[in-house]
Amino acid sequence: MAAPERGNIVILTGAGISAESGLGTFRDKGGIWEKFDWQKLATPEAFAADPHSVHAFYNARRDNLLAAEPNDAHRALAALEMLWRGEERGDYLLVTQNIDDLHARGGSMEVLHMHGELLKSRCNFCGHLFEHEHAVSARTPCPACNKAGGLRPHVVWFGEMPLGLDTIYEALGGCDLFIAIGTSGTVYPAAGFVAEAKAAGAWTVELSLEPGEVSTLFDERHYGPATKLVPDWLGRF
Ligand code: APR
Repeated sequence: MAAPERGNIVILTGAGISAESGLGTFRDKGGIWEKFDWQKLATPEAFAADPHSVHAFYNARRDNLLAAEPNDAHRALAALEMLWRGEERGDYLLVTQNIDDLHARGGSMEVLHMHGELLKSRCNFCGHLFEHEHAVSARTPCPACNKAGGLRPHVVWFGEMPLGLDTIYEALGGCDLFIAIGTSGTVYPAAGFVAEAKAAGAWTVELSLEPGEVSTLFDERHYGPATKLVPDWLGRF
């Protein structure tokens, strides 16, 4: 068997697809969690204890993102979406664990950000969710209710429920092709998606720099830098 050229497709991306755009990954050598302690910066408890440091961490990552550009891997996925939808080859769902906006800036029309989005914040007082490029602090008033002290990054922290899981599991249950790109397969529930896709009978493909934690579950595996590997592999369609 090999990758079908028609049918329902689910794609999962991780930090590796944005690595060559200059955004750090988490667990590679020199990665973000080597430099920063996720327990002090990426949990609800950390935010409650020290909102100033957490806001500063995400403000710095937002500044990095604003200076970054999408790469050929992001653009290749946008072209695949155009083809898949344009020729009505089947359903197409792009799920990313990344909080950057490089998929959208690279031309993808629909992106499901299961770990949230760095360019958005929300108010704990009134629930207002809004996009912004400027820095936010514990003193920044909410643009809707005007109260200060309630804003938090619209990012899913460890211990919080990822977004869009109903949509994702419904798509996995009926998918014919599952492609994981640039993810280490260490964080659940995303790391479990390949098993769900296999159970649905999908052909599963891993495209990354090196084998991830659940590599042995994939039917097909290719390794190399995403900016070459992804356009090359997607070029078959
Ligand atoms: N091209 C392709 N893949 C790459 C490249 C590259 N240039 N550089 C690194 N990679 C691969 C690595 O081999 C690794 O498998 O990208 C993956 C990065 O793994 P992680 O740093 O663990 O990132 P990710 O899998 O996205 O982490 C998942 O963990 O901390 C949480 O919420 C955070 O969304 C993140 C989640």
